[in-house]
Amino acid sequence: MDNAILDFLKSRRSTRKFKSEQISDEILEAVLEAGTYAPTGKGAQCPVIVAVQDPETHGQLIRMNARILGSNGDPYYGAPTILVILAPKTSHTYIEDASCVNTYLQLAAHAAGLGSVWVHREKEMFETEGGKALLKKWGLSEDMVGIGAVALGYADCDPPAPAVRKKDYVIRI
Ligand SMILES: Cc1cc2nc3c(=O)[nH]c(=O)nc-3n(C[C@H](O)[C@H](O)[C@H](O)COP(=O)(O)O)c2cc1C
Repeated sequence: MDNAILDFLKSRRSTRKFKSEQISDEILEAVLEAGTYAPTGKGAQCPVIVAVQDPETHGQLIRMNARILGSNGDPYYGAPTILVILAPKTSHTYIEDASCVNTYLQLAAHAAGLGSVWVHREKEMFETEGGKALLKKWGLSEDMVGIGAVALGYADCDPPAPAVRKKDYVIRI
């Protein structure tokens, strides 16, 4: 079947090298808005997306994540924008909901001509004292769990070829 949207879905790849050039507010808003249209359990929209461009907070996230990773590098690969996705553990489907939001944000980024990659370790980051202080600063409750982040910006590399799909990915009965 020839279908441009199916081809588009298959063409998204993770970006791991970003240009330092910041994205415009217009593009950021468009990506964020698309993220808010992700499906959520009972339509409750429980996740929150925190879009970080402020240099101080941006640097703080890099240091917090790198500390958990045990590296001196930037786990967000130089992306000038970091979208942190959090959700309240009081919700029945908080992990699933936030994961859908993360995925929608990455697809929206791809549609907008940006590079993106899901970055992990936000759970541990927001369990630290520094993470809890950030939640407070952002007006969020301590119930919020970091589910993941999207490193966002202009790709500074060509997309790699996708991995071959495993043979037993799909079972048709
Ligand atoms: C839950 C989850 C966590 C991930 N964490 C990271 C991460 O911390 N750093 C990273 O570079 N990529 C991370 N990724 C991206 C995957 O490595 C990537 O999606 C996978 O290699 C497939 O490549 P593709 O996105 O280009 O199709 C994560 C992806 C998921 C779904």
